[in-house]
Amino acid sequence: MRRPLVAGNWKMNGLAASIVELDLMIKDCPATLAARIDLLVCPPFTLIEEFAAAAAGSSVMIGAQDCHPKPSGAHTGDISAEMLKDSGARAVIVGHSERRADHGEQDALVRAKAEAARRAGLIAIICVGETLAEREAGRTLEVVGRQLSGSVPDGATGEEVVIAYEPVWAIGTGKTPTVADIAEVHGLIRRELSARFGEAAGQSIRVLYGGSVKPENARTLLQAQDVDGALVGGASLKARDFLAIAEAYL
Ligand code: PGA
Repeated sequence: MRRPLVAGNWKMNGLAASIVELDLMIKDCPATLAARIDLLVCPPFTLIEEFAAAAAGSSVMIGAQDCHPKPSGAHTGDISAEMLKDSGARAVIVGHSERRADHGEQDALVRAKAEAARRAGLIAIICVGETLAEREAGRTLEVVGRQLSGSVPDGATGEEVVIAYEPVWAIGTGKTPTVADIAEVHGLIRRELSARFGEAAGQSIRVLYGGSVKPENARTLLQAQDVDGALVGGASLKARDFLAIAEAYL
């Protein structure tokens, strides 16, 4: 019922020459896979327009990693959701833990960014996840629940919102939660979404897992209860690895 989504977050990686990896993703993606799942690649801002042109009409969508809440104005160095849409992006990641940590982004700002994405006609991939200290203190569900209610806009539906559960301690570390731990958090997210937005909307919103997803562990992690896909960092930079992860759905 929910179509899986495998999304790649390139972070601050990629130059013009990196388009060879996108070309390989498009060329080597099996038709049977493209028929079953959505594939999204989020390169840095500088590559969005060129990537979107190259991916037009293919099974790969192009997205961005952040946006400003306002449509335009005196915000030096920022990029609006409307600009992303204009460049050919279909989605934008908001509230990634690296933005929360590096730029002090709080839930209210993340929510405003998700609202901007909706205004511009982009899918917002809203990230939540606990730190290691919070997990060790037994506060995972409380923290994720609070981030979820603070970061997700009112009236959210699966058409325009995706949630990514990314434990901060699993990002770029090679460590992953157990399947049971993932299922526990995803179960909480699903219950909260249904309680807030109603059963139909709550059930329509995809909930991705992110944090050290690799070809070797993708099949296990993506089979956890209530996991509708992955948000992949490091392993999304190479077409071979990214497609090998997506092929968990073949
Ligand atoms: P990782 O990053 O796959 O490199 O752990 C995931 C993310 O930050 O989205």
